Amino acid sequence: MSVCVVVGMQWGDEGKGKIIDLLTEKADVVARYQGGHNAGHTIIFDGNKYILHLIPSGIFRPDKICVIGNGVVIDPAALSEEMQMLKDLGFDYEGRLLISDRANIILPYHRISDLHKEGASGSRKIGTTGRGIGPAYSDKIARVGLRTCDFLDESRLQETLRSNYEEKKKILKNLYGENLPELGEIVDQMLSHRDRFVKYICNTQSFLRDRIAEGKTILCEGAQGTMLDIDHGTYPFVTSSNSTAGGACTGLGIPPARIDRTLGVIKAYTTRVGEGPFPTELHDDYGEQLRNNGDEFGSTTGRPRRCGWFDAVVGKYAVELNGIDAVTLTKIDVLDQLDTIRVCTGYRHHGKIVDGLPASLPVLEQCEPVYTEYPGWQQSTSGIRCFDELPDHAKRYIDGLQDHLGVEIPLISTGPGREETILRGELL
Ligand code: GDP
Ligand code: IMO
Ligand code: MG
Repeated sequence: MSVCVVVGMQWGDEGKGKIIDLLTEKADVVARYQGGHNAGHTIIFDGNKYILHLIPSGIFRPDKICVIGNGVVIDPAALSEEMQMLKDLGFDYEGRLLISDRANIILPYHRISDLHKEGASGSRKIGTTGRGIGPAYSDKIARVGLRTCDFLDESRLQETLRSNYEEKKKILKNLYGENLPELGEIVDQMLSHRDRFVKYICNTQSFLRDRIAEGKTILCEGAQGTMLDIDHGTYPFVTSSNSTAGGACTGLGIPPARIDRTLGVIKAYTTRVGEGPFPTELHDDYGEQLRNNGDEFGSTTGRPRRCGWFDAVVGKYAVELNGIDAVTLTKIDVLDQLDTIRVCTGYRHHGKIVDGLPASLPVLEQCEPVYTEYPGWQQSTSGIRCFDELPDHAKRYIDGLQDHLGVEIPLISTGPGREETILRGELL
């Protein structure tokens, strides 16, 4: 009986989908608190692979309630598509999918603007997913966004779109030479998706607080990861929301004092999609091995992920920032073939060890990692379910990471499937 936030500790794609799906067995409600369909959360069970972008990773467990929170930005077309996918696959979400009445909407001009900005910005290109996330959050903060509750009132929906239309049209035309579709067309587009999801829109904020008062177990599902957080990540190479644990309070309407536990998800090495600093990135054969063995290609865009050694500076930063109580370590099996494994334990800048994670982008870019070396185990750990069965060098590596992070690692993932998991302590 608790409220638990599950947060990515690196640059996303840590395996949050697998971990949430696993933990949902013991939960009542799973609630996504930020991001949009830039996320790609993979869940594998019974030999089938599913990728979710917006709908919480608890949806495959019957009877569990899934909430899309107010902090999420929703593209109605993407949501409709995902709901259709679930229907086609035979997963029933009727009565157990709830969408906040306060979530902001991604509109066609957000996507156009995202794609053009990325095309135009040269060396400042962020490498976004092109889903309109940044522009949609910009409009939310500028207080001109369309919200889910506006779908319950057609005249309000039309009025909000009308009041934004001329400005957006001019900007897209003058900056990018792009013609925005007619206002009526955009309104029709929005209304065409309305019927699919309007009945799920409700006050999820009070729903969640009521469930908490009843003592139910709530999992708050983070998207992206700590280093992509708009405030605390490698700005400006970040996403546009608070992916750190605090985002769960604002993105779901849960009071801070009601959060009982924060679980971090971290990969046994590091990956990043898109541009931006990545101190432990590998451009050699080790990097290639990690990408190939770990199948490191984006779940949302299919882009190859940049790969590098485990960065304990990043890990420790995530532990402190999120107040992580326990860590789940994923993809240990991807290291099986390596002869040597390195862990970054500090950054050196102009010959001096840096304290923590530098805010300045140029400083971070100039930092050199300081490494500790671990011997590889060169045996398969794939699918192992008991810690004692791991090779000694794998145990040593995991215990080493635990020491570097200063937090227990009660769950170790040895493969993408639900069962390919070692549990050696309590998680919830
Ligand atoms: P998320 O965005 O954090 O949910 O992570 P993604 O789903 O984008 O990427 C994680 C990838 O790693 C997915 O393809 C998972 O199926 C896979 N995965 C998760 N845990 C493990 C593991 O322990 N071992 C291996 N080999 N793959 C894993
Ligand atoms: P999950 O939830 C990895 C990255 C993009 C880009 C930056 C900004 O699957 O871990 P955006 O489209 O959000 O404006 O792009 O953030 N990014 C992710 N990287 N995993 C994700 O989500 C990501 N969501 C966004 O690649 O660098
Ligand atoms: Mg992902």
